[in-house]
Amino acid sequence: MDTEQKLDLKDVVLIGRTFDEYYRMFALDDLNPQTQRILDVASGVSSFCPEANSRGFNVIASDRIYRFSPYEIEEKCRKDLETVLTKLAEVMDLYNWDFFKTVDDLRAAREKAYKLFVDDFKLQGNKRYVFTEYPHSSFKDNQFDVSLVSHFLFLYDEHLDYGFHKNTILELIRVSSEEVRIFPLVNLRGKKSVFVKKLLKDPDFRTFRMAIRKVDYEFVKNGNEMLVIESKT
Ligand SMILES: C[S@@+](CC[C@H](N)C(=O)[O-])C[C@H]1O[C@@H](n2cnc3c(N)ncnc32)[C@H](O)[C@@H]1O
Repeated sequence: MDTEQKLDLKDVVLIGRTFDEYYRMFALDDLNPQTQRILDVASGVSSFCPEANSRGFNVIASDRIYRFSPYEIEEKCRKDLETVLTKLAEVMDLYNWDFFKTVDDLRAAREKAYKLFVDDFKLQGNKRYVFTEYPHSSFKDNQFDVSLVSHFLFLYDEHLDYGFHKNTILELIRVSSEEVRIFPLVNLRGKKSVFVKKLLKDPDFRTFRMAIRKVDYEFVKNGNEMLVIESKT
């Protein structure tokens, strides 16, 4: 993922997760939907934002794909889901089949995610779905309380370098008054990203409290931890 190049939709794979998955990945039972403002970072075609807002949470989604129309995105989602499911047969062993019992369960969840997202994007447009190209954003200082980063940082550590990770996290700390939560900590090869250790030791983060927490969600094997960064010292 080269963040300098102008994005073409054919270069991204549009697969999104549901509210139930986010709830478990980020152990969201400790959040207060009435008071806490949430930023979904690199939210893509996940249905977390529409589902959470309809349950009373206050969520804004941010991704670089939001400059495309819902119709372009929908068409791409349909194709990508078929491609990913076809290729899945070769990598079944990388995954735990406890949460999704079968490939059909997985298909149903991924279809639900993109359809709910597309419907809401058509209705809410860029009020709720903000075009953002990290590591930069247009959000104000402390505009949110908690930022959630699902399947973006650490996962693509071969394509996004440490400087990108660091600058994105510093930007999220700026816009979040309480916490930044990142899941998973493994990369595409299913190994813990070396950037996790590097970040924990980075002097620029020494004033922030950081902790790794086990969560009750593990689809990619060994991907059952999130990093929590308390954003204010
Ligand atoms: C694997 S998807 C994850 C989507 C969602 N968070 C989820 O877990 O279902 C990764 C997302 O990162 C977005 N992305 C990649 N680079 C980005 C950048 N520099 N700024 C904003 N979004 C980016 C892609 O457009 C894509 O939607």
